[in-house]
Amino acid sequence: CGIIGCVGREDETLDVLVHGLSKLEYRGYDSAGVALSGERVDVCKKSGEIDDLKRALESRSIDGAAGIGHTRWSTHGPPTDANAHPHLDCTGDVAVVHNGIIENYQSLRDELATAGHTFKSDTDTEVVPHLVEDALADGLDNEAAVREAISRLEGSYAVAVVVSGDDTIYAARNDSPLVLGIDDGDAESEPAYYLASDVPAFRDFTDRVVYLADGEFATLSAEGWRVSDVDGTTVDKDVDTVDWDPEETGKSGYDHFMLKEIHEQPRAIRQCLRGRVDEMTAQVDIGDLGDLSPTGVQFVACGTSYHAALYGAQLLRDAGIPAHAFLASEYATSPPPIGDALVVGVTQSGETADTLSALREARKRGARTLAVTNTVGSTAARECDHALYIRAGPEIGVAASKTFASQLVALNLFSLGTTRVDDVREVIGALRDLPSNIQAILDDSRAESVAGEYVDSDAYFFIGRGLQYPVALEGALKMKEITYKHAEGFAAGELKHGPLALVTGETPVFAVVTGDGEMARKTIGNVKEVEARDAPVVAVTDGQSDVGRYADAVLEVPETHPQAAAVLANVQLQLVSYHVADKLGRSIDKPRNLAKSVTVE
Ligand code: G6P
Repeated sequence: CGIIGCVGREDETLDVLVHGLSKLEYRGYDSAGVALSGERVDVCKKSGEIDDLKRALESRSIDGAAGIGHTRWSTHGPPTDANAHPHLDCTGDVAVVHNGIIENYQSLRDELATAGHTFKSDTDTEVVPHLVEDALADGLDNEAAVREAISRLEGSYAVAVVVSGDDTIYAARNDSPLVLGIDDGDAESEPAYYLASDVPAFRDFTDRVVYLADGEFATLSAEGWRVSDVDGTTVDKDVDTVDWDPEETGKSGYDHFMLKEIHEQPRAIRQCLRGRVDEMTAQVDIGDLGDLSPTGVQFVACGTSYHAALYGAQLLRDAGIPAHAFLASEYATSPPPIGDALVVGVTQSGETADTLSALREARKRGARTLAVTNTVGSTAARECDHALYIRAGPEIGVAASKTFASQLVALNLFSLGTTRVDDVREVIGALRDLPSNIQAILDDSRAESVAGEYVDSDAYFFIGRGLQYPVALEGALKMKEITYKHAEGFAAGELKHGPLALVTGETPVFAVVTGDGEMARKTIGNVKEVEARDAPVVAVTDGQSDVGRYADAVLEVPETHPQAAAVLANVQLQLVSYHVADKLGRSIDKPRNLAKSVTVE
């Protein structure tokens, strides 16, 4: 999602907002809208493209001195006009845009509904204008009312609010970015102030910025801007100057969306876990899904999602539930007996035709179905009996990166939430540590130098055992997709049953070895087999075993629970593929012949 706000541009407010929204387009969105406050608050919002919003605006006369705009990417409720932001209170005097997830929205909504408020959308955001409305009715002034509303929110938010008859934007952040743009004006121009979730939204108008910190509150009007803390005390903020060009900003400074999305994984995982795990009580809360108690699970999925499904099936089997992953395109050709199994479609887009058709086949045969997806309102989410959202945020790069990590985390939640396992607390702890552990890898990976070393190789092989087997498959798929090089992933033990014939001194073998138990020992045996055939070995390891002794290069991952180790190892492999592709000058975000979501069988 993206936020833009503007005050001080007089009759240009709307143009600035629409321009800002188009600059945020690259983040991915499914609806957009604006609100301007003059004597009253005017709102225009549309599902679909920014061009759809522009068309809707053509038939409206809408203006005001202070304005806010939003591109929405659904997390609660499908992408409809009603669910698009800004959201209004009952009186129509308060408009709100929001990024993030309000965790306690259901209890707030129940409370407000009991007090007589009516809601027009399915969103968590809509509680905010109603909370402001109540505070205003209690006699608070506008700023105090917005502060009061914000104080009731739990979760992550970047919120911007306008109130009728007031040329001020009120904004607050907690765990979701917000930045102010400062243009103090000069002899020829009046001052103007901006607000956005990302600098590109207003970079064409100013390069002077103030970054808000968590817990801070901002007011912007044509007279100036102020940042304060929760108690209302003014915070002295630095005004920074951004040194990049407006042209460079589409990818937040990254060369490719894929690299940006690889770097977004800590945040994506935090979003996936938010409100769903409690380390103290060792509880996992996945809502009604917790009551599913499956006695058997059949996963159906394609591509990267199939690798996540293989991982999920293993988690469930380890928890004593018969579970199996099927390639969706093969499922219907010889459908397995379903019995009372739950059929789970893993699909980031929720639109993959092969997966939808496997899910439909399962439903036809009486199965209960669940979609594990990133896309609220997608066909899979609508057609399945249940949905578990992975909340990775929009992914633009065709090759999946952060959605895979989020799928693995969501499947852990599903397994913990529906089965009984002994080490729940350890797994929850390890999931919670994932964002910082991934960050440690991103900050200090040797993947680029490994990529440089092996960029000219004939082929790349990836091996892993147990939970690291799907990681090996995914490592190879990523390499194929974005480098166009021959790459294969194998179960480590299977290498010697055929593929070993392909191994030469020109074919690096990436071995994922974490822990120091029996599995690691066996994979190290397989590593020695390839080493004896002169193949360069790159070990992806947490250093618990001595695999490094047999490797030409080591990519380290922090030590953690085996279920989380798979996510970490995958990050190193993503980086290797990315850097090989980059050195080869490939079209990383749009590899040849591939589509993000394949809607034909
Ligand atoms: C396409 C993409 C793959 C993706 C697969 C499944 O083939 O190119 O990267 O893994 O679809 O997509 P889904 O949206 O169902 O996860």
